[in-house]
Amino acid sequence: MLRWGLAGTLGLALPAGTAVVSGGRSRGPAAAPSAAEDALPTWAFGTPLPIPAVLRPVSTEGGVDRYEIVQREGRQRIVPDATTAIWGYDGTFPGPTIEARRGRPVVVTHRNELPAPTVVHLHGGVVPPQDDGHPLDLVLPVGAQADAVQTEHARHGVAGLAAGSRAYAYANDQPAATLWYHDHRMAFTGPQVYRGLAGFYLIRDDAEDALALPRGERDIPLLIADRQLAPDGSLFYPAADPTGRRPGVTERYHHSGMAGETVTVNGVAWPFLEVDAALYRLRFLNASNARPYRLVLDPPPPGGNGFVQIGSDVGLLPRPVRYEMFVISPGERYDMLVDFSRYQPGTRVTLRNNVGDGTAGHVMRFVVARRARDDARVPETLVPDARPPAKDQPGADRRWAFFSGPQEGTAPPMVNFQLYDMTRIDARPTLGSTEIWDITADPTHPIHLHMAHFRILRRNGGPPEPQDAGWKDTVFVPSGGMRIAVTFTGHRGRYVLHCHNLEHGDTGMMANLEVT
Ligand code: C2O
Ligand code: CU
Repeated sequence: MLRWGLAGTLGLALPAGTAVVSGGRSRGPAAAPSAAEDALPTWAFGTPLPIPAVLRPVSTEGGVDRYEIVQREGRQRIVPDATTAIWGYDGTFPGPTIEARRGRPVVVTHRNELPAPTVVHLHGGVVPPQDDGHPLDLVLPVGAQADAVQTEHARHGVAGLAAGSRAYAYANDQPAATLWYHDHRMAFTGPQVYRGLAGFYLIRDDAEDALALPRGERDIPLLIADRQLAPDGSLFYPAADPTGRRPGVTERYHHSGMAGETVTVNGVAWPFLEVDAALYRLRFLNASNARPYRLVLDPPPPGGNGFVQIGSDVGLLPRPVRYEMFVISPGERYDMLVDFSRYQPGTRVTLRNNVGDGTAGHVMRFVVARRARDDARVPETLVPDARPPAKDQPGADRRWAFFSGPQEGTAPPMVNFQLYDMTRIDARPTLGSTEIWDITADPTHPIHLHMAHFRILRRNGGPPEPQDAGWKDTVFVPSGGMRIAVTFTGHRGRYVLHCHNLEHGDTGMMANLEVT
């Protein structure tokens, strides 16, 4: 198990990156559907895809939806022949889905019954700094006292330490989108998300409702996360300190981050979903610690272009974009329509990761069961972009280098050749401004900005790929670099930007941003 895990992990860092550079439009249709399924356990594609429960508010008084979540340990069946101890929101992995309405405030009170401090970040949310989940704004376990280090560090956070619970307020003053919430504890985000602390947060609005998109049971969130399971079902994580007191991973994982050979969707390894021969909305989220995927439908529908992208990380696109395959790196979301009526009933369609080695090359399966009535269709136009078009310019306003160097090297993951320093502000953009950023990566890194959203101007020095459309909060920066236009609307204050390879973020690939 472990040996395979390492092989997969080592294979990931470079080939996946190279694939992105040349991927997208230049490659032909999905690789031959010959991938050896014999690598998979016999039970693969035998468990139905679970859909995370939608959380019910404890109160809706005063036009505010109030929720309560208990962070606690749980056990669940990730593989059919064992149970796995997890950390979960309400004890489940993924956590319950929160459905919000644009403009209607939500307050989520999290109570920490876990044996470690936690932090909740709403990824993609335009949230004031005190509610954003700064990595130093710890929520201590119920009954625990802060130690001297936590107290000292909290001075460099935003909201201070919380004893046992914290209420996070979200205004939802942003368009309909697929956001997610996850743990963000300083230096321990990797192990804590890995144990299961992640869930969906969907914002809906009138503009989206006016479109004839698939709804209800045909609007499916897919949280993809790879894990390494021991034969007894327990989660393997390469913590440098098995007692969990000191952060970091063992040396072999410094460069790659934690990648496992079992691919889970909504908390189950290689599930299947029975679908009608109809249009579906699939909201893809890569919640893996470190693994990027290049997803294809196998077989592709007759005529190709099986994926119709309607939304990016933080909202619907002006018009749909069609393609055969797409790369999704940790933290990113792709909102897709897939028309299963293009397949004959009875077809089994495997969602494959064609940059994954062995078992990591398979994600889940759709079984097209029957013809069915369908009122949804692919809209020609979606939601117009109200914000001005991003303009390119001769030089950048800011440059960022995300460097972790060669696999065999000893360099830690750094931003602009510096490790994260909680006392240093790395950039002070002005509220309301748009800045042009040039980002370079060695080898490749998924870069995420809190609060601010951006558009992609250039990839590898050339034009963007079709899948680069729309507003984003996370982007997989190839080794040839990327130019983005970041718009700082929302709030003043301190936020972080970092690599969403969680092991990289935990060990130094993070910077402080103060919007002034
Ligand atoms: Cu999804 Cu700072 O993270
Ligand atoms: Cu990285």
